Amino acid sequence: MIPFQEIGYLIGSVSFVLGLKMMGQPDSARKGNLVAAFGMGMAVIAALLFNEKGYHEKGYHVINNIEFIVLAIFLGTLVGTIIAKRVQMTAMPEMVSLFNGMGGLSAALISLIEWRHYMLIHPEGEESMEMALYIPVIAGLIIGTISFVGSIVAWGKLNGKIGDFRFPSQQFINALVLLAILVTAALNYTAFNASHSSFYFYLTIALAVIYGLLFVFPIGGADMPVVISLLNSFTGVAAACGGFLYHNKVMLMGGVLVGSAGTILTVIMCKAMNRSLMNVLIGMAGGNGGGSATNASGGSVREVQASDVAVMLKYAGKVIVVPGYGLAVAQAQHACHELEVLLESEGVDVKYAIHPVAGRMPGHMNVLLAESNVEYDKLVEMEHINSEFASTDVVLVVGANDVVNPAAKTDPSSPIYGMPILEVEQAKQIIVLKRSMKAGYAGIENELFFFPKCGMLFGDAKASIQKLLNEVKSL
Ligand code: TAP
Repeated sequence: MIPFQEIGYLIGSVSFVLGLKMMGQPDSARKGNLVAAFGMGMAVIAALLFNEKGYHEKGYHVINNIEFIVLAIFLGTLVGTIIAKRVQMTAMPEMVSLFNGMGGLSAALISLIEWRHYMLIHPEGEESMEMALYIPVIAGLIIGTISFVGSIVAWGKLNGKIGDFRFPSQQFINALVLLAILVTAALNYTAFNASHSSFYFYLTIALAVIYGLLFVFPIGGADMPVVISLLNSFTGVAAACGGFLYHNKVMLMGGVLVGSAGTILTVIMCKAMNRSLMNVLIGMAGGNGGGSATNASGGSVREVQASDVAVMLKYAGKVIVVPGYGLAVAQAQHACHELEVLLESEGVDVKYAIHPVAGRMPGHMNVLLAESNVEYDKLVEMEHINSEFASTDVVLVVGANDVVNPAAKTDPSSPIYGMPILEVEQAKQIIVLKRSMKAGYAGIENELFFFPKCGMLFGDAKASIQKLLNEVKSL
C-alpha cells in the first residue's frame, strides 16, 4: 500500500526547510512564507485524511471527531485571516506575540490531555510512565505554559495595556521559581509511578504560569524583541515535544525548526543588544518601557527647516538614511525611496543603515523598505555601515531614536547601555525627522539631539520627506 501519510509528511518537512531557507533573503522571503504554509497544509491533510493506520494498538492515535477538527480549522483560519488583514504594520509584533502564545497553549494542552494515555498498566494493575515519555510530556507542558503566559504578557506590554512590574529580589525569585518547577517535575514523576497522585503535576503547571508572568513582567526598554524571539523558540520546542509524543515526524520537524531558528535569532539579538541569554531568562534585562516625553537635560536643540536640509542633501556626496519605528508609523517608506531616487539622480550616493532592532520586530525596516522597492544592496547592516559614517556628509535619521542614542555607549546607568548603536554622531551633519522631543521605546532622552551638528526637522516623517522632495526639486 502507498504510504500516503509518510509522503505528505515528507513533502511538509521539505517545504518547511526550503521555506525557512528562502525567508533568509528579503527578495525570496514572501515566497518562502508561502512554501512553508503549503508544507503545513500538506502536513495537516496527510494527518487527517490518511490516519487510518494509527500508531498504537490502543487506538488513541487514530484521529476521531474529524468534523470538529475541520470546524476548528475553518474557524481558526477565518479569525486568523481577519486579524492578519486588519492588523496595522505597527501592531505586527503584538500579533506575532499573540499567535505565538496560541502555539504555546496548544502544545501545553497536548501534554495536559495526553499524559494519562501514556500510563502503562501492568498486569497487577499498577500504573507507571516510562521516563522517555515523561520527559516530552512534562517538557511540553512546562515550556508551552511559560510560552503561552509569557506571550500574553508580552502582547499586553507591547500594546501598552500592561506596564512594567518589579519588586525587590525579582531575579532571585525568578531563578527560585525556575528551580521549583524542575523539582516539582521530578517529584511528579516519582508520584506518578508510586502513588498515582497528580498533585505535583498541577503544581508544576501553576509554577510555570507564575514563572511566565514573572519572567516577562519586568522586561522593558529595548529588550522586548529578545523576549519575543525567545518565547517563539519555546513554542517550537514545546510543539516538538508534542510531535515526539504523537510519533508525528512533521510536527517534530516543524517544532525543532521553530525552536532552533528562534534560538539562533535570540542569540543574534542578545549579541546585537549586548545582553546575556541568562539575564533575559531570569528577567534581568531592560529598563523602562513605554516611551513618554522627557525633558531636555539643560541643552538646547537646533531646529532646521526643510529648505535648509534640501540644500545640504542636494549638494552632499554621500547620504545615509537611518530608518526607525517612526518610518513605520508615518508610512514614509515610499516617500523615502522617492527621495533616495531623486538624490541619486543628482549624483548623491544614498544608503540605508539597518539596526537589528530598529522598529518593533526583527527585519521591520527591511520589510518596509522592500515594500517600497528599495534595492536590497542599499540596505546595509549595522556592523558594516558603522565604519562609513565618518565619511558621510548627511545622515537622515527618519523616526529612529534608541538605535542612534549615544547613551548606549556612554551612560552605564542607561537601560540601553551596552547595546551597539548606529554611530551617526561621526557624520558631518545629522538631521533627525521626528514630531517632537518625545523619547523612543526605551523611554529615555537622546543626547544626540542636543549635539551642535544635529538639526531637528520636526513633523510627521512622511510630510517632512514630502517637503524635502519638493524643496530638492525646486533647487
Ligand atoms: P524608537 O526608539 O522607538 O523611536 C521612534 C521614534 O519615532 C520616536 O522617538 C518618535 O518620536 C518617532 N516617531 C513616531 N511616529 C513618528 C512619525 N509619524 N513621524 C516621525 N517620527 C515619528 O525607534 P527605533 O530607533 O527604531 O528603536 C526601536 C526600539 O524599539 C528599540 O528600543 C528596540 O529595542 C525596541 N523594540 C524593537 C523591536 C524589534 S524586534 N525591532 C521590538 C520591540 C521593541 P516622536 O513621537 O517625537 O515623533
